[in-house]
Amino acid sequence: MDDCKIILNTGLRGVKIAQTRISDVDGDAGRLIYRGYLIQELASRATFEEVAYLLLFEKLPSQAELLIFKGQLSRERELPADLIAALKTRPANALAMDVLQAAVSMLANHDPELPQCTRDSTIRMAIRLIAKTATLVAAWRRIRHGLEPVMPNPELDHAANFLYMLKKETPDPEIAGFLDVCLVLHAEHSFNASTFAAREVASTRAHIYAAVSAAIGSLSGELHGGANARVMDMLLKIGTPDAVESYIQTEFAAGRKIMGLGHAVYNVDDPRAFILAPMSKIMGEKIGDTRWYDISKLLETTAKAAFNQRKGMDIVVNVDFYSASLYYAMGIPVDLFTPVFAVSRVAGWVAHVIEEQYAGASAKPVLYRPESEYVGDYCGPETCSFTPIENRS
Ligand code: COA
Repeated sequence: MDDCKIILNTGLRGVKIAQTRISDVDGDAGRLIYRGYLIQELASRATFEEVAYLLLFEKLPSQAELLIFKGQLSRERELPADLIAALKTRPANALAMDVLQAAVSMLANHDPELPQCTRDSTIRMAIRLIAKTATLVAAWRRIRHGLEPVMPNPELDHAANFLYMLKKETPDPEIAGFLDVCLVLHAEHSFNASTFAAREVASTRAHIYAAVSAAIGSLSGELHGGANARVMDMLLKIGTPDAVESYIQTEFAAGRKIMGLGHAVYNVDDPRAFILAPMSKIMGEKIGDTRWYDISKLLETTAKAAFNQRKGMDIVVNVDFYSASLYYAMGIPVDLFTPVFAVSRVAGWVAHVIEEQYAGASAKPVLYRPESEYVGDYCGPETCSFTPIENRS
């Protein structure tokens, strides 16, 4: 009978549920690869568009392929007028991730290729989703502040276009370059919670907009993508480097988590944090205010030492920790930190949806369906006997 036992694996830690050719995270070595390429190399040598192409088409693009791909993104950036009108009906205090999730679902209503659902049409829908997610985030920020959305600029690449649509001014090339690196770093991370959500929905053969919309909901949580905004809230609350020590002691004594620390897979510091930390410092120097970087740096060392002292084990720094002070110095509003994560991660989500649904003739699609362990009532040895409502106390 033991063979029939289902092992309870809370949080699916260490469970491999599918094969993937898209990316790999080695949590002990602190190594992240997208389709075989090290993240450090992609961050320093490739643009977001090249990486999105790599994730979608399984190879780095040639110059000609990249030109075509950029043209496709450029043609797909604009939003349907109906959708902009719908965004204008949302209350100004609606959460940006909620608006984005709903808007992505609405995009499906406007996609003439939706009923086809072939591999090729899904790739075209994927390109639309990558292009339009950035426009949606920028448009919502402006609409909630009573401003008209800015039409995309066909002359600008993805990162620069996003900043342009946000502020209605051509961005500083260095800041646009930094955002481009951030988009590369956040684009993909194997079976993280939101990607798992996307794949789970895709496994039912629901369409790509449904899968991406579910992924956005998952990303919004503060234990996942929502952590970057919570890190900034924490930095703002701390305010000065000399308040770091007491903040850490108070939080640990209260049993609260320090946002931006800890990871479900990495046992060493996240390789992306090593890239983001110096960028945060440079960006702080550029604007003449390194306060948020300085607090982050001190917070990292203080929290690590305090954690080790309390628990006798190490805690790692994750991708959200330094992206907070970096985005803040770049002038990105805190409520857009997590949506900016989505602007990038959508490239990974769509690659996973395509892999899940169209992996090839040899791969048999499987509906995700885990088991649970029922620990509820039976009202005794048998199942509960039903009491009519008039007899219930
Ligand atoms: N601050 C303080 N303590 C933390 C911590 C943090 N950021 N992250 C984990 N811990 C503690 C837990 O409380 C737990 O202690 P316990 O055994 O006494 O209960 C222990 O470390 C193990 O934590 P656990 O939640 O099991 O780790 P996990 O690997 O399952 O979870 C995260 C990983 C990401 C959910 C977790 O580290 C976290 O909540 N981090 C903060 C949110 C964040 O930055 N999210 C973005 C992730 S990229």
